Amino acid sequence: MTRTTSNPTYFIKTFGCQMNKHDSEVASGLLDVEGLNPAENIETADLIVFLTCCVRENADERLRGQVASLKTLKTADVSGTTSSTTGGTTNDNAGKTAPLIAVGGCIGQRDGNKLLESLPHVDIVFGTHNIDSLPALYQQAVAKREAAQTEGRYKAWKPEATVEVKADGDSDVFAADLPTTREHAWHAWLPITQGCDNFCTYCIVPYVRGAERSRPFADVVAQARALVADGVLEITLLGQNVNSYGRDLEEAEGKPLFAEILRAVAATGIKRLGFATSHPKDLSPETIKVMAETPAVLHHLHLPVQSGSNKVLDDMGRCYTREEYLDLVAQLRTAIPHITLSTDMIVGFPGETEEDFEDSLKLAEEVIYDQMFTFLYSKREGTPAATMDGEVSADVAQKRFDRLVECVQTSARYRNEQLVGSTQAALIEGLSKRDKTMMTGRTHGAKVIHIPLPEAAHIDDYAGRILSAKVVEASTWFLRGELSESLEPTRELT
Ligand code: SAH
Ligand code: SF4
Ligand code: F3S
Repeated sequence: MTRTTSNPTYFIKTFGCQMNKHDSEVASGLLDVEGLNPAENIETADLIVFLTCCVRENADERLRGQVASLKTLKTADVSGTTSSTTGGTTNDNAGKTAPLIAVGGCIGQRDGNKLLESLPHVDIVFGTHNIDSLPALYQQAVAKREAAQTEGRYKAWKPEATVEVKADGDSDVFAADLPTTREHAWHAWLPITQGCDNFCTYCIVPYVRGAERSRPFADVVAQARALVADGVLEITLLGQNVNSYGRDLEEAEGKPLFAEILRAVAATGIKRLGFATSHPKDLSPETIKVMAETPAVLHHLHLPVQSGSNKVLDDMGRCYTREEYLDLVAQLRTAIPHITLSTDMIVGFPGETEEDFEDSLKLAEEVIYDQMFTFLYSKREGTPAATMDGEVSADVAQKRFDRLVECVQTSARYRNEQLVGSTQAALIEGLSKRDKTMMTGRTHGAKVIHIPLPEAAHIDDYAGRILSAKVVEASTWFLRGELSESLEPTRELT
């Protein structure tokens, strides 16, 4: 379809993990091909797509809040003859067709039709396994609305929803094979696996995203090559557990191929290569070796630990001990002395005692993380942990959470302070959201760095370039740098 300014517009709101960020670029790609245009904001969009997450309860709640907040937009009808003001506020959309609302992602996959009971004004529901159906579902919803309008029974608040969700195994589509519209020209997500076979006892992801499937080696490398040819500077390989990549491929004969695919993608000439997420039980010495030897591979690793207590790790079904985890950290730091480490930790898992929590705290103090994503345990129906005894009270969990956050703030600041005076290669991403005189970039260790935009310069001259910057100041979550004399890329990390 030819794109014109009068074509319908879409707006995508994304929650959850990087897999959803990638899926959101696929949804954009599919809708662009369908002839829709991106909307400037949610208020003016003709189609609003939510890519949802259900990993914790608050993610579920956020979706409900967001969809409910669209009430004003939904009360404008096709002719604009009904309420042009709602709750005393003027509706800018009077006279405009009410937008269609689509809910996809992990909540769509989990709930399917049931979602309409709690969100009755949703027009389209789709899942993680059939994102490729989005354009067709959109066209069906438009046709249903038109038919209802013709028959005079159209009500924006009572749409006839179009629902399609495919069960795991019913779809061969790999989202990475679909058209994408990337958020940044220089960065690409590149999924290498879908789903997860680990079934950590607290986690809902394997039930939603299905069994782990690896993308063929040659397809991944061919796509990486095409991305490099398209000017991409940084690729992030994606999977719930990238380290087990390839185990299900015939060519691997049961062995994981992650180190090999890392090497092969780096060999395409990509300037920067990252990956997420790594499960400690599958991080191999070979992968650490490739990370150390391959200049393009970021000197950063997100290595979720979840807990520092062996008892809790066992109850979580994580398949490693705190000693094995600490040993991995030691191996990583020996091989790559300047590596930056981030992690995920859950506090308040069923049965977690004060002593177990102290073990988590001690582990965090020992590792000295650059960053940690800290989560209060959230009960997910259908997971083994949901029926475990030993619920930790919200009050106790919150106090532990606060102590852990304080510990991580101290270590993150300490790690950043170590970099003051060093020269870093910064990939400039754009202007800082808070201060338009500053550019924001990321170092080779994936740290956020703010650098003043040179006077009279335009951000477009810098965004998407890798520049040298001297670190002049450190705070807890970012560095402040100044452009070095030379604008040549450098990886100096001293
Ligand atoms: N596959 C990735 C990401 C999983 S979800 C991994 O294994 O690292 C991201 C994080 O959410 C997890 O690492 C975990 O820390 C957290 N998480 C998952 N389920 C949770 C739950 N029920 N309650 C609290 N945090 C949870
Ligand atoms: Fe969830 Fe564990 Fe799989 Fe990560 S590895 S997605 S935490 S089950
Ligand atoms: Fe959330 Fe689904 Fe990712 S549940 S964490 S968006 S896989």
